[in-house]
Amino acid sequence: LFRTLSIVILGILIAYSSVFSPNLTASASSGIAGLKAKFLRPGEIPFPEENPYSVAKERLGKVLFFDPILSEKNNMSCATCHNPGLGWEDGLPKAIGFNMDVLGRKTPTIINAAWAELLMWDGRFESLEEQVLGPIQAAGEMHQDLEDLIVELSAIAGYRTLFSAAFPGEKISPELVGKAIATYERTIVSSIAPFDRWVSGDDDAISSLAKEGFNIFNGKANCVACHASWALTDSGFHDIGLASKDIGRASELPKIKAMKHAFKTPTLRNIVERAPYMHDGSITTLDAVVDYYGNGFAKRESLSPEMKGFSLNAREKKALLAFLKTLSSVDEAVSLPLLPR
Ligand code: HEC
Ligand code: HEC
Repeated sequence: LFRTLSIVILGILIAYSSVFSPNLTASASSGIAGLKAKFLRPGEIPFPEENPYSVAKERLGKVLFFDPILSEKNNMSCATCHNPGLGWEDGLPKAIGFNMDVLGRKTPTIINAAWAELLMWDGRFESLEEQVLGPIQAAGEMHQDLEDLIVELSAIAGYRTLFSAAFPGEKISPELVGKAIATYERTIVSSIAPFDRWVSGDDDAISSLAKEGFNIFNGKANCVACHASWALTDSGFHDIGLASKDIGRASELPKIKAMKHAFKTPTLRNIVERAPYMHDGSITTLDAVVDYYGNGFAKRESLSPEMKGFSLNAREKKALLAFLKTLSSVDEAVSLPLLPR
């Protein structure tokens, strides 16, 4: 009886909504509720089938991430450049690598990398597992020979224990180093920010100024054209007109005109904590970033058609900045692991 009753009630509701409010679904998805729904956080971290999560893998990956033994001179770890205290970046306009050489690009954050489709500013790596072995061997970065690294790790009893817990019965190899670090990286997720609380229904979680800013972000300033979804990135590549000579994604896709000077859209999570900005570290404050998008960029053939420019009055600009600040979460302090020796 209860089932029949609920089906009848459901039927009446559907009939009611289609008769009296034919646009119910359309208006909900075009209104503020529908807009907010596009920014809802995912329920869980995606781990790939080829490298499923385990506690032992995460533990090993964390130790490796913080261990300078990964570099030839044993003086540089992943965390040297991807420092949790600096939004998993290094606070520099361009990274400093082996022999203190200044590298060509800024260190990007690794928060929310579990969701990244392609990695690096130019998208040259397809998985975190594959990416790990890049900086370890890169002449300008950790400058490490992989065979030497495996010899070094295998000689340390603490590492043998960690590896056999994470990968029972397997020999220590570069592939396992990649799998362990990638697993740890996937656990580095920006936690609940005021914006998330607002999106999921707490109206007081952000100020009314920030709410105005959200509308500007999605409207007049058109930021959402590229900074979409919960992590505020479309995972795409665009030329936003920066003066840098770097050709970006065109090094991978030379035939596609729009990929010249195109770089991966970064997440805007915890953006306040991650200055300076852009692949070349050329913009030092968020205030200046907003001015840049308004009218600071050069027009050229490869410029994204979504770069239309705009002018905001002082209040609108303040509102947009207030919104960007709501994307910061107070993440748990990261403890440093003891390094096996
Ligand atoms: C010398 C500084 C430095 C070190 C050391 C370093 N990185 Fe990076 N990392 C960078 C820079 C710079 C980039 C961007 C380079 C590019 O796009 O060409 C980058 C990019 C990345 C990315 C891509 C992020 C994204 O969203 O596209 C990941 C992931 C990453 N590094 C992880 C690591 C890991 C893991 C280690 C240790 C094995 C490491 N890095 C060591 C500077 C460094
Ligand atoms: C056409 C796509 C597009 C639009 C529109 C756009 N962005 Fe971006 N944004 C990008 C890309 C791509 C980058 C990286 C560019 C680079 O480094 O060369 C970026 C970088 C940034 C950065 C620096 C992130 C970092 O980690 O260094 C901030 C902040 C930012 N955008 C904010 C905004 C705001 C605010 C708006 C709206 C006013 C906006 N963006 C509009 C694509 C876009």
